[in-house]
Amino acid sequence: MGKKKSNSVTARSGRFAGGPAAEANAFTNSVKFDTRLAHHDIAGSIAHARMLHHVGLLKKREMEAIVDGLETIGGEIAEGRFEWRSELEDVHMNIETALTERVPAGAKLHTGRSRNDQVALDTRMWLREEICELANELHDLQHALIELGEANRKVLIPGYTHLQRAQPVYLAHHLLAYVEMFERDYERLLDCLVRVNVCPLGSGAIAGSTLPLDREFVARELGFVDAHEEPMVTQNSMDAVADRDFVVEFCSLAALIAMHQSRLCEDLVLWSSAEFGFVTIGDAYTTGSSLMPQKKNPDICELTRGKTGRVVGNLVSLLTTLKGLPLTYNSDMQEDKERLFDTVDTVRATVNILAAMLRDTEVNTRTCAKAVKDPNLLATDLVDWLVLAGMPFRKAHHVVGKIVAVAEAKKKRIDQLSPRELSAIDKKLTKDALSVFDLKTAMKRRTAIGAPGDAQVDRRLTYWRKFLEH
Ligand code: ARG
Repeated sequence: MGKKKSNSVTARSGRFAGGPAAEANAFTNSVKFDTRLAHHDIAGSIAHARMLHHVGLLKKREMEAIVDGLETIGGEIAEGRFEWRSELEDVHMNIETALTERVPAGAKLHTGRSRNDQVALDTRMWLREEICELANELHDLQHALIELGEANRKVLIPGYTHLQRAQPVYLAHHLLAYVEMFERDYERLLDCLVRVNVCPLGSGAIAGSTLPLDREFVARELGFVDAHEEPMVTQNSMDAVADRDFVVEFCSLAALIAMHQSRLCEDLVLWSSAEFGFVTIGDAYTTGSSLMPQKKNPDICELTRGKTGRVVGNLVSLLTTLKGLPLTYNSDMQEDKERLFDTVDTVRATVNILAAMLRDTEVNTRTCAKAVKDPNLLATDLVDWLVLAGMPFRKAHHVVGKIVAVAEAKKKRIDQLSPRELSAIDKKLTKDALSVFDLKTAMKRRTAIGAPGDAQVDRRLTYWRKFLEH
């Protein structure tokens, strides 16, 4: 622990007889993790100092000395030359103390401010930047999915329900399903950003201030403005310092992103297994076994799937931490940061690595073609054929069920039954019925919006490519 200098600012001076017990400080200080907010803390303090000058609470040269001092400290932090002192509790006290030790006017910086509105400000500023980064990275992941789909535009695979072969789909259609999911996530990110981007500074510890603060001035300085450049400030001082909804909201949409990624990874784990063999993930994005020389493991997929657990855990942690808290700020809330930081780090890392891995993933067209040749995948098309021939759907479903059973008993594929065998099941089943088993025609017939037919898949690929490139 560093020694307290005579002109040091601490949150204890005056009221306390001495410093905290070493283990009490070790337990309570947040310097271990909240230095990540340092640059936003400095930007917030600079805006606050400018506002104090604007309303006449700081002389021009005091404000300038403060701004200079803060900028110097910011430079030292960026270069790793700043000495963090854990006995000063947190990032806020460290920076304010360092400033006051160098600049006497620093003692006026905290005028009309509390760490309670300050930490809410810093967290919001930090998070809004991360949200913008993550949103762009999410679009890049969508782009990687589009690239893989386009490069393999004609590849068909079985689509699965209950993990049993269901109906044929273009691989691109399957990948586009994830593009839709990630776009909803993207929209949620932007929507969340609107509520993150509201300035709490000026709320003080709980009840504002008697000083003539100009909150909208600070909001404008720090970019807390809406689409019309109108300043966005919190409207209730108690809510402003007690609120971590924006953290919970972000972490819950991050949990959705993680869950979507996890499902994509599960598909890729299956598809890259010998049993499926639809894709090969590049060597650079797979790992080996320490014992079995033949192994090539889809580690990135597995870890991404696994990390969903910690992202969901972080969300549950936050909700549990907040749930019983009386208004307003309570130290419990200091627990929000590690959960938030970990969520951002985890989700950004997985989004980026998945995009890179998809760009190094090959589709095994022959294995896919073999799997999709299974005529049972078109059993439903045969039902549709009978429906068009005038048979009620329920009856047609029953008839085709019989065909499947007969073929199975005779150890034949359903498209190999003879016209005699077919008409023995139902006289409506002429030779023509077998035309449904032509895959190419079958895919062209799927024309409704959202169906995996050729025209629809092309339409969506073009839409997304344009959308993501504009
Ligand atoms: N380190 C604190 C946190 O992360 C900052 C706010 C502390 N406020 C206080 N009155 N102790 O939440």
